[in-house]
Amino acid sequence: MSAVIGVRSATAILERRRGLPAHGPANPFFLMSIKEATRPPTYCAGKSHAAHGRAMTSISEFLTAEHRHGDELFAAASHAVDRNDWPACRERFGAFHESLRRHMAIEEQVLFPAFEQATGIAAGPTRVMRDEHQEMLALLEGIAAAIAARDAARFRGLAQSFSALVDSHSGKEENVLYPMCDEALPELSGEKLAEMVSKP
Ligand SMILES: [Fe+2]
Repeated sequence: MSAVIGVRSATAILERRRGLPAHGPANPFFLMSIKEATRPPTYCAGKSHAAHGRAMTSISEFLTAEHRHGDELFAAASHAVDRNDWPACRERFGAFHESLRRHMAIEEQVLFPAFEQATGIAAGPTRVMRDEHQEMLALLEGIAAAIAARDAARFRGLAQSFSALVDSHSGKEENVLYPMCDEALPELSGEKLAEMVSKP
């Protein structure tokens, strides 16, 4: 079983390996920028999905496509506010919220625990992602209240904050964490993720 290590101690270990002074930044994404050094031996033995010859969607492809779908649903809700069409806004926002909660469940219930177990990094990027999920859900509660009150100004203000947070969050996942998951978890495809989360 992989040892669970904190981000600071992991950073210190990696810096010693690389001959760097042991006082790296506390930002967990520092670890992700030097992902080559984070790989334990079993990690290096992993093969890509292509190498396994399977016609499955990679973790990156599957979850990035879900991000784009969510972006479209949220934009549709925003456009409905621009048209002052609150029933349409409520419907599209509801579809977005449901889609996002399922996406987060895939990550938090299946992907992140699998990544943490495979790499031994339990207090790093996945913890940051979980915290940002909570921030996103809190903002969505405010947006739902703005929709219920038909308050376009409040909707737009909160939607702007939400979009900025989502852009930052999705960028970190798509550019760094998902590719790391593809490599650390060669047996896990996008289809498998969706199948696992839908089980009771
Ligand atoms: Fe996420």
